[in-house]
Amino acid sequence: MIVVTGATGQLGSQIVAALLDRVPAGQVGVSVRDPGRAAGLAERGVRVRAGDFHRPDTLADAFAGASQVLVVSASELGSTAIESNTTAIDAARAAGAERVLYTSHQGVAEDSLFAPMPVHAAGERHLAASGQPYTSLRNGFYASTVPFLIGPALTTGEIVAPADGPVSWTTHADLAEAAAAILAEPGRLDGATPPLTGAEALDLDDVAAILTRLTGRTIRRTVADDDEWAAALASQGVPAPQATMLLGMFRAARRGEFDIVSPALSELIGRPATPLSSYLEGVVA
Ligand SMILES: NC(=O)c1ccc[n+]([C@@H]2O[C@H](COP(=O)([O-])OP(=O)(O)OC[C@H]3O[C@@H](n4cnc5c(N)ncnc54)[C@H](OP(=O)(O)O)[C@@H]3O)[C@@H](O)[C@H]2O)c1
Repeated sequence: MIVVTGATGQLGSQIVAALLDRVPAGQVGVSVRDPGRAAGLAERGVRVRAGDFHRPDTLADAFAGASQVLVVSASELGSTAIESNTTAIDAARAAGAERVLYTSHQGVAEDSLFAPMPVHAAGERHLAASGQPYTSLRNGFYASTVPFLIGPALTTGEIVAPADGPVSWTTHADLAEAAAAILAEPGRLDGATPPLTGAEALDLDDVAAILTRLTGRTIRRTVADDDEWAAALASQGVPAPQATMLLGMFRAARRGEFDIVSPALSELIGRPATPLSSYLEGVVA
């Protein structure tokens, strides 16, 4: 059985959907915090069990009988996230899974300026330390981040954000298909995968140009001062640690931490990765 965690989240749900195109539902299980939200999967014959990374006792049951467990990294920060992810990895091993998979990031690095990257570095270190087979999916930066970065630009005609750098934006759907392809063919990629990214790295100047073309209206890019931008977020009620984390993303992008592109994702899904412009077509529609 293949067990996927986070199956009521955006990526996990799409991974399970893609997996069900490849393997019978009876061979698929999900570990979710609220099984009620996975009722549709249960109806399709997927094994649905409660699993919370903060309650390891639940994971023994959720992962029981799994030959592979895909741990979708928790949507948490810092040491809490590291604790959650390593707990889930350990529970998968303890349940006897032959391979543990984990959703890492293309920019994984201990010394990254973007706080989630050292979290993924810790997850990868933990996987490697076990000496057992693992696959760390080095997922590209979600294209779904871009609508947040552009803020109200579609109304104001202006993207106001700190200085940035090129990012190889990647869609959830493509990443989900790739994860399902790897799960359906055990051992296809051992260890850390190549970066699973879109085909081009684009900065906010490029995004402004795409939005201008898609909307037929001029969308300008204006560079904001880092501290003023963070202060504006705080005045909108964004907690200071979150504002600092978001600023870190711009600083990391400026340093080129997210500009790598690789054909690996396209090869896994057997078609070109979805371009950011196609994703944004859906956003402006
Ligand atoms: N590649 C990137 O650019 C990028 C960007 C942002 C985040 N990420 C990482 O990728 C992960 C998946 O992305 P996503 O878009 O699917 O995020 P998402 O929709 O927020 O899903 C996160 C999933 O993690 C589950 N989760 C959180 N805490 C948990 C815990 N303590 N125990 C068990 N499950 C827990 C959530 O469960 P519920 O469904 O019960 O809430 C949810 O299903 C994120 O969690 C984050 O680690 C990657």
